[in-house]
Amino acid sequence: MSLRRDPLGPLDREAVRQGADVPTRVHVPGDGDGISGELFHHEVHRFADGSRVPGWREGHDPGKDAAEVPDPAQVAVPEDLRAEIEDYMSRYPDPRSAAIPALAAAQRLHGWCSPDAIEQVACVMRLTPGYLTAVAGFYDMLETRPVGRKTVYVCTNISCSLRGGDELLAALKGQLADDPDVNIRGFECLGACDIAPMCSVDGVYVGPVDDAEIPVLAEQIAAGADPLPLKQLVRRRVADTAANSDGVEVEAIEAGTIGPVLHTDGPATGGNDIPGAAR
Ligand code: FES
Repeated sequence: MSLRRDPLGPLDREAVRQGADVPTRVHVPGDGDGISGELFHHEVHRFADGSRVPGWREGHDPGKDAAEVPDPAQVAVPEDLRAEIEDYMSRYPDPRSAAIPALAAAQRLHGWCSPDAIEQVACVMRLTPGYLTAVAGFYDMLETRPVGRKTVYVCTNISCSLRGGDELLAALKGQLADDPDVNIRGFECLGACDIAPMCSVDGVYVGPVDDAEIPVLAEQIAAGADPLPLKQLVRRRVADTAANSDGVEVEAIEAGTIGPVLHTDGPATGGNDIPGAAR
């Protein structure tokens, strides 16, 4: 069997250009190795414009002049944001190295890297909006479209996938589908494979998430409550006992006097909580 980089024939390609239905069914023929080509049907997920990359055609207007570095007299930049960006810029020999933290700061303020956010960062950093838009479009944690303020990344990479990460993602998406404040996405390895399947809830790593805990976790995410406190990475015991985070009640956990308690009624914040534990 041979691998073909582009399995689309000319007609398929034209159909995709015209916005063929997604997913597009592509037939990769066999090459005489005795295996029927019919075996090689493969679903290629495509967006409505036919691309596998979302939005790559957006924002391109060849007839339009490129936006220049914004005029400080014309752009109102919130003082706190300006100070934060200038602080980042002061940390690098080349101030442009601060583009990612600066955009992240603007995203925290605006909720996403909106045109206003980009313009404000460009104004402070003395860069063109186009430069920063390119950076924002490349990095997965910078949002180039409006999203919910609560960010949940569910790892679907190999360790988590083998231990139910895809099901965790599907279940959380299903339970939080109607909540516009929640931005929930599958994500590549988040570097916490030892607690697979895991997810990051506004930067708080939790795992391994058991099936029975998913409804509680969904409630806690929706309520903005501390997610599964006893499953948080920051509260796991480490080899160097002096390095344990504040609030880890190791003895109580080991003695079984406290543990992951799943609440079945009452407020979402009441379940799986460590009284007095600090983050
Ligand atoms: S595979 Fe999920 S954290 Fe590494």
